[in-house]
Amino acid sequence: MRKEAFFGMSREDSLDLLADARVVHLATTTPVRQPVLRASNAVVMEGAVFFHGSGAGEKGTTVGMPAVVSAEEVVAEIPSFMIDARRACVATTLYRSVQAHGHLEQVKDRAEKARILRAFMAKYQPEGGFEPLEAESPLYGAALDEMLVLRMPIEHLDGKAKLGQNREPEELARMMEKLWERGLPGDPRAIEVIRSANPGAPVPAFLDWAGGLPLTCALGTAPADLAQAVKLLEGEYWLAGLRPESIARAHELSQAWVGARDDGLVIASARAVSDGKTAWIYDVVVDRPWRGRGLGTALMRLLLDHPAVRSAAAVRLATKDAQPLYARLGFKDVSAWKRTFASSEMVLERAGR
Ligand SMILES: CC(C)(COP(=O)(O)OP(=O)(O)OC[C@H]1O[C@@H](n2cnc3c(N)ncnc32)[C@H](O)[C@@H]1OP(=O)(O)O)[C@@H](O)C(=O)NCCC(=O)NCCS
Repeated sequence: MRKEAFFGMSREDSLDLLADARVVHLATTTPVRQPVLRASNAVVMEGAVFFHGSGAGEKGTTVGMPAVVSAEEVVAEIPSFMIDARRACVATTLYRSVQAHGHLEQVKDRAEKARILRAFMAKYQPEGGFEPLEAESPLYGAALDEMLVLRMPIEHLDGKAKLGQNREPEELARMMEKLWERGLPGDPRAIEVIRSANPGAPVPAFLDWAGGLPLTCALGTAPADLAQAVKLLEGEYWLAGLRPESIARAHELSQAWVGARDDGLVIASARAVSDGKTAWIYDVVVDRPWRGRGLGTALMRLLLDHPAVRSAAAVRLATKDAQPLYARLGFKDVSAWKRTFASSEMVLERAGR
């Protein structure tokens, strides 16, 4: 099979990767064939990539020239022993990359420049904090005239996702087990990225749940995960008074966030924060129709084995009424001697960690 068939990325995914990049690389030439390579902010919309810069800068000399814009995302470094116990040269990097080709055009119309710069502000400063960027505003008018704005309509787009698609199922299984074992901060997410790029790959043993659905060791890899997890937690007593945005932010900032999806929809979620010595577990939830089948227990076992949690000497959580679930996992109720919470506080102490 040709390599493109393994690694080619859809146009939509390629555009998303380019649009999400905070910095892209722009390669082009001047009219006298001096090569130009610049790291730059960029906005992708309407089938084109946009840049801005100073009217007097080097970019201004590249109008009309052919150009390539690239962006990439490193997913994980894979040492050789994760694939083959003996051979060195199978070591690899998993990544996604995109190159867009076209010719650079100058945008001269002031209103059009203002519209493009509004798109830059929406991407790079969505929180606002500035006067509306209007072409006729005395605050911006003259500056807009001086500023260089470039458009590169995308003539050709080339996206590549190198995520182990050329590997045998048993190699992928070994890779995912080893990533879980290594447990660098990006490794749980890398496992989920590998799984979604290789739907035929076996479910690693640590994600297997006897109830019929695989677990996920890194929620947040699908764009809808966050909103769905927050929805699942709606109305829970320990979150009363908190804004949904705060709950969402807490999930994004947690070193561990595990769960399960059914048909793409989050049906279970749990998270932990940890300094490596003490971990706190929060927001354990299973969707009602799925309760009582062992999913909550499986989720907790996965969370306790998560790289951010597994080395902690103490794992703590507070609960009002689900003590039997945690007691079965080794947690002890310490509320009788440590009344820091209105509900009982439980702790799992693990010697020698
Ligand atoms: C708690 C929760 C995550 C458990 O999920 P689950 O998939 O039903 O869990 P399991 O099937 O693995 O285990 C169920 C066990 O949990 C215990 N349990 C769950 N909720 C309980 C509650 N409110 N009171 C007492 N025990 C409870 C029971 O001991 C039950 O044991 P059983 O199987 O012997 O009846 C789920 O019920 C839930 O989302 N509840 C609402 C949110 C919540 O209370 N979260 C925990 C706060 S820290």
